[in-house]
Amino acid sequence: MDKIRVIGGNPLKGCVEISGAKNAALPAMAASLLSAEAIHLENIPYVRDILTTRRLLQEMGAEAEVLEDGTATLKALDIRSREAPYELVKTMRASILVLGPLVARFKKARVSLPGGCAIGARPVNLHLMGLEKMGATCDVVHGYVEASTEGLRGANILMDTVTVTGTENLMMAATLAEGETILDNAACEPEVSDLAGLLRSMGGRIEGDGTRTIRIQGVKELHGCRHRVIPDRIEAGTFAVAAAITRGDVEVRNCCPQHLAAVLSQLTQAGAEITTEANSFRVRGKDPIRSKNVTTHPYPAFPTDMQAQYMALMTQGDGSAVVTETIFENRFMHALEMIRMGADITIDGRQALVKGGKLLTGAKVLASDLRASASLILAALVAQGETWIDRVYHLDRGYCQIERKLASIGANIERVS
Ligand code: EPZ
Repeated sequence: MDKIRVIGGNPLKGCVEISGAKNAALPAMAASLLSAEAIHLENIPYVRDILTTRRLLQEMGAEAEVLEDGTATLKALDIRSREAPYELVKTMRASILVLGPLVARFKKARVSLPGGCAIGARPVNLHLMGLEKMGATCDVVHGYVEASTEGLRGANILMDTVTVTGTENLMMAATLAEGETILDNAACEPEVSDLAGLLRSMGGRIEGDGTRTIRIQGVKELHGCRHRVIPDRIEAGTFAVAAAITRGDVEVRNCCPQHLAAVLSQLTQAGAEITTEANSFRVRGKDPIRSKNVTTHPYPAFPTDMQAQYMALMTQGDGSAVVTETIFENRFMHALEMIRMGADITIDGRQALVKGGKLLTGAKVLASDLRASASLILAALVAQGETWIDRVYHLDRGYCQIERKLASIGANIERVS
């Protein structure tokens, strides 16, 4: 199994290109099930979760091609299986995103219920509640959601918790439902708006994406299209922290700075010097790194997917910072590994008190999930000596060659098979 080896101490300098967003590409690929015509996608990151989705679509009988140049061609002319099997869903929870499109177009679906994961229980009750409001029946049998309908009808759906994939699943289903659907307390993440843009290019009638209320007028059928997914704001944010924590000077290109405005504003408060352009930003890390509290919330606030990376930065702060995680109930696994590197972190439920100014020392550490693995690399970049990060398969799920990109701006990092 691959490991990542890092020798800390180098300030990062140079330019880095951001890949397409995993969390925009996954729903875009699922949306291809809504039409019999070809969907051409661009700027698709060649990461493991994308390849898992390709396999899922192929196993259903769809044509699905994903190339390393970032293009994908998907065509669900007809599919022989309306099932997402446990073997695939257990490796990637986002497989749940095929549920809405399958029920909407084929009136039937059997999708393995994604269990919990390292960061939380992650139920999908709101996805099922919404589909039932649109007239489907959703039973959980032998670990599978068995959903069927005579034909979906528009409905008013209020989600009591903001859910990203829940909003995406119901928005996709509603595009082929009879009548109007209103999604209230909807997620506003840029990935949701990107999906709405794709669905409109397929002939969908959607308004209000990017706000808490999305209106969808159902149509009879959707057609093919070409769509370029947005850049990955979390990958961009990860490199911003890499520049700040190593007191480096990095230009992050091919991204959308406004999609991570909350992250850049938090890093500025923490002492980094940041300038932005239309499709890039530059981060100059400064001493001292100022300890600043942060609380995660749904977009446009500070994202939970940047919490671990920010915690790594706060281990180098000039005082103490409280990191509060409001989205997931168990998203501090990385803190335990940072403590093994010498960090001073005290966890109390959904709050972590990070006392800064501690010299980190290299160690053997374990990645527990995608963003935790990135945060351990960031901590290792400023640790004294050598760090070995194990279970980097987590990293490969959502980062495209991160160690090569970091090495290209001066990090002493390599992948060891
Ligand atoms: C998406 O997950 C992202 N994944 C996650 O990114 C991200 O952390 C999360 O949104 C929050 O921003 C993808 O887009 C593929 P949620 P999702 O439903 O949609 C509760 C990464 O690192 N909830 O918005 O699964 C849930 O338990 C990943 O790239 C219900 O209670 O997250 C959580 O507390 C990790 N019932 C909260 O809502 C439901 O039916 C937000 O979860 C659904 C969710």
